[in-house]
Amino acid sequence: MKRRVAILISGRGSNMAALIRAAMAEDFPAEIAVVISNRADAGGLEKARGCGIPTLTIESKPFGKDRAAFEAVLQSALEEHRIDLICLGGFMRLFTGEFVQRWYGRMLNIHPSLLPAFPGLDPHGQALGAGVKISGATVHFVIPETDAGPILMQGAVAVRDDDTPDTLAARILEIEHRIYPHALRLVASGMIRIEGDICKVEGSLGSGDTLISPAPTS
Ligand code: GAR
Repeated sequence: MKRRVAILISGRGSNMAALIRAAMAEDFPAEIAVVISNRADAGGLEKARGCGIPTLTIESKPFGKDRAAFEAVLQSALEEHRIDLICLGGFMRLFTGEFVQRWYGRMLNIHPSLLPAFPGLDPHGQALGAGVKISGATVHFVIPETDAGPILMQGAVAVRDDDTPDTLAARILEIEHRIYPHALRLVASGMIRIEGDICKVEGSLGSGDTLISPAPTS
């Protein structure tokens, strides 16, 4: 039985689109059952509908700081759609500890940096400001702290001297679209084990790939 996934978005939903595309494969172990936005103007809603995925908007603004009240409505929607797993895709709203606890091990997020470096806002500006030579994207299980939690998968790119936050973001976004579907596949097929703060992949031998940046000249 395919795991039923809700994707939560607040904006353009390009990661959502990558997950929807991947889940169209017959052998993919999860199906995207619903896309939920906390903003009616999220561009991703239209894209999801175009792919025939049911969508729902639960505006968070009217709830103000009352996160629990927003989450109560969200939780009923998730139950109504019999959701097994949540994927956050640029969902710009913090959760209460209770909600995170309830979904622990079943809620994934993607963040455009090699966590634990550069969580929060403007990760690309943070990376360029720190002068790192390699950055990337991370898929992780959600815990109460923002952009933290057991790491499922990461992908890296070289940072160039002439990068701006926008050029770096564009290269990392391509990596995001590649790793998020793989990470969801692993979770949905039960190949992930969480041991404390560490996430391990069943039977994974890792990869021998090395990324050295800047590339050595001799
Ligand atoms: C993505 O780059 C995602 O990694 C980031 O928001 C963007 C959403 O784009 N998420 C975070 O920064 C979480 N802290 P998308 O709507 O096109 O998927």
